[in-house]
Amino acid sequence: MSFHSSYKMFNMQSKLNLTSRKESNNSVLLPKNKTIVSILIGSLTLFMLILGQLNGSLGEVGSNNYKNPNQPIEARVEDLLSRMTLEEKVGQMTQIDHRYLSRNHQEIWQDHLGSLLAGGGGAPYPNTPKKWAKTLNLYQRLSIEETRLGIPLLLGTDSVHGHSNLKGAVIFPHQIGLGATWNPELVENCARITAVETGITGINWTFSPIADVARDDRWGRTYGSFGEDPYLAKTMVRKTVVGYQGKNAESLRKENRIIACAKHYLAYGGTSWGTGKNSKIDRGNAELENRIIRERHFPSFKAAVNENVRTIMSAFNTIRGVEVEAWDELLTGWLKEELGFKGFIVSDWGSIDDAAPTYKEAIQIAINSGIDMVMVPDYNVTKNHHKFQQYMLELVKDGKISENRINDAVRRILRVKFQLNLFEDPYVDTEEVKKRIGTDSHRAVARQAVRESQVLLKNNGVLPLKENADIFVTGPNANNLGYQCGGWTINWQGGDGNITEGTSILEGIKNEASGPVTFSEEASNAEGHDVAIVVVGEKPYAEYEGDTDNLSLPREHLNLIEEVTDTETPTVVIMVAGRPRTGITSQLSEIDAFLMSWLPGSEGQGVSDVLFGDYNPSGELPRSYPRSTNQEPINYDHRPEENYDPLFRFGYGLSYTNFEYSNLRVVPNPVKKIEDNVQIKINITNTGDITGSEPVQVYVNDVHSTLSTPVKKLYRFKKIKLKPSETKTVNFTIPVKELGFYANSYPERIVENGTFQVLIGNLKKSFNVKIQSKGPEFEFNDLTVNDNEVEVGKKVKISVKIKNSSAILRVKKIELLINGEIADSQSVELLPKEHKKISFDITGNREGTCQIGIAGLSKSVRFVKPTSEGDKEKSLLLAGVVLSIAIITAIVYYWKVK
Ligand code: BGC
Repeated sequence: MSFHSSYKMFNMQSKLNLTSRKESNNSVLLPKNKTIVSILIGSLTLFMLILGQLNGSLGEVGSNNYKNPNQPIEARVEDLLSRMTLEEKVGQMTQIDHRYLSRNHQEIWQDHLGSLLAGGGGAPYPNTPKKWAKTLNLYQRLSIEETRLGIPLLLGTDSVHGHSNLKGAVIFPHQIGLGATWNPELVENCARITAVETGITGINWTFSPIADVARDDRWGRTYGSFGEDPYLAKTMVRKTVVGYQGKNAESLRKENRIIACAKHYLAYGGTSWGTGKNSKIDRGNAELENRIIRERHFPSFKAAVNENVRTIMSAFNTIRGVEVEAWDELLTGWLKEELGFKGFIVSDWGSIDDAAPTYKEAIQIAINSGIDMVMVPDYNVTKNHHKFQQYMLELVKDGKISENRINDAVRRILRVKFQLNLFEDPYVDTEEVKKRIGTDSHRAVARQAVRESQVLLKNNGVLPLKENADIFVTGPNANNLGYQCGGWTINWQGGDGNITEGTSILEGIKNEASGPVTFSEEASNAEGHDVAIVVVGEKPYAEYEGDTDNLSLPREHLNLIEEVTDTETPTVVIMVAGRPRTGITSQLSEIDAFLMSWLPGSEGQGVSDVLFGDYNPSGELPRSYPRSTNQEPINYDHRPEENYDPLFRFGYGLSYTNFEYSNLRVVPNPVKKIEDNVQIKINITNTGDITGSEPVQVYVNDVHSTLSTPVKKLYRFKKIKLKPSETKTVNFTIPVKELGFYANSYPERIVENGTFQVLIGNLKKSFNVKIQSKGPEFEFNDLTVNDNEVEVGKKVKISVKIKNSSAILRVKKIELLINGEIADSQSVELLPKEHKKISFDITGNREGTCQIGIAGLSKSVRFVKPTSEGDKEKSLLLAGVVLSIAIITAIVYYWKVK
């Protein structure tokens, strides 16, 4: 029997069941008028059967049925859940890579799979839009038609910079380049186009945005992040989520049709060199306190959840030695309970496998900690989806994983499927798809993203290139589309040469130049040209394959630069790389211009737009540019005690014009209420003679804080455009609540009174926070003394209870008074509303009664003369004498009486 016919049999059965249910419901009517009722029931049954034949599913749709699109999503979820067997539920929690499906894809229906992915390089063959659409439609059909309940699949891929597994799709700059644009609206637009190109091929889930904050350039995933700063990352993550999923539930259902996945949760960008795979850094350990994780690595995930991101992917790393997947506190606690995340958590590619000594235990730990779907993904023969499902069933039967937990996970997954409208509209149009991939309008947006991502780091006037200039181009990255797209493009590790459609940097230069352009691999040929452009950088890589403890450019690239500069031709160096590459530090003085291009993707023309001045560069560094590898990890928001001396600082970037900052104003000063907003204003003038855009960055420094805070921290930015001589006033608003820092055990920011400094451009302005609490700030109770009478020289313990009644972290100096004089003191740190008991030990040095006082409470203690050793001996002697006399008297008396 084919699977199709078994499905039909099931449909028949369900219709028969329906009939008999109706019959029994109506049986009470039969005695009254058997014939009429029988006819009615018969007709009804026939009607239902015909209706059912016309549409297999309709026969089952009651008003409360999950297939009824008029029902609220939550009701549909509950209805579907109530019909599912444990096996079907576990199936929903399983995701495998479609490359591991058998030939007839039977796993989809036999194992009730909830999701499939096409991992890096996992395109169907041939890699065309139509083939993608056909393949994904087929999977969808198998899941809908060949399973009992007809649940559609979530189909995921890494559309991390465009639909980057698909040939011919527009490839945007990698996230690091998008971070360099400082233009969140543009980033949203890129994500929206990615959603269109991805969604139209039948993929409904992208494993993006990457919400990691990369703190160390040695990490092979640095280019996947928006940079080193949490605020920049969170702003871009938020916009990317909106770009993918649309602004609201309606746009997710109708327009964008793909869900986002914020990854990799948590602190993946904060691991230390030497702790990762192959003793490098990827998949390593983040030895960070909670307060640092909250400040640096959590905000981008929080922002994604605030934008209703439907999924989050857990990471490969450990935090303080424990696998992320085993951190119940971080997965369930922080995400689901604290943030109220309603979507689901998917684990990364086999990432749970090593969470415990055995696979079964690892599954138990991960699911109980809060993982909802497991990317199995089936490449590992011993830890495959059959084992996963078998162990899951056993764990539930043995009570090791509760059914509640399973239901919670499945509910989350089903909810997303309903939100995507997959039950109503699961298929894509295989004819339409080609027309919407890599279109001119999509490429135009990507080109704008490339333009805005270019960071000009040095320019002595050679750029923009003169019209009609005679240009010499060289370098391994000049004419290589694969290199400029980087990893995660067509293949997991990226590729070399014309791996997809697009324009290389050289082609871009040729298209735009009005003078001659000569390309040669021989540096010496540079001689005699007006200008030489040397394009150097990295070859593509992904994940741990890109980890390196040597950030220096390869020797051949450095030699090439040197040979070109030796010809005394004015030289422009373009770096095509996913992170700052060093080695160039000593050559900088010989180079006339230095442009950081990142991994621009398929639209190389955006780079030449900047070279020729068709676009005035406006990108700024989203990562600090180190002088050498041994400065790593190097970050601008370092602690006061750390050194920061990069080659180019975070946020640096030149323009072809100049901007002047003036008249920085900050109100109110002092800030008196925690609910206040700090209003910042600054004037910016374009003092050059061409129009330019400038990302205005606002930093704040909490000058004295109880717990050490960064020397400065980005709080806001706005990219503005100014014509020559134009001045604009830019306003920023920062709620005072945001100015605080985190303590390890407290989820909210803590604002302390004190001085803060706003830093914009080269200007600084201080303001004070003086928040008055209502009522007493501190409450003191229960002053106790462990003994009211103590010998002089002995210790007595005095304790008191203190509560911080204010809304901010306070450090309070508590003074112990003895007879009105300060005898001792200690400082205590208290979170808002926190109680603590503190104690002092005192020793009396003379006899008498003392008044002990703390914060207006008082108690007395009497110090008495201590009993000395001499006194003790004397007393013992005396007692001995008395005893002896008594004994003698008794004996004498005895004899007398006798
Ligand atoms: C990566 C993820 C990716 C997944 C699926 C993993 O190796 O860490 O970022 O989403 O593969 O391709």
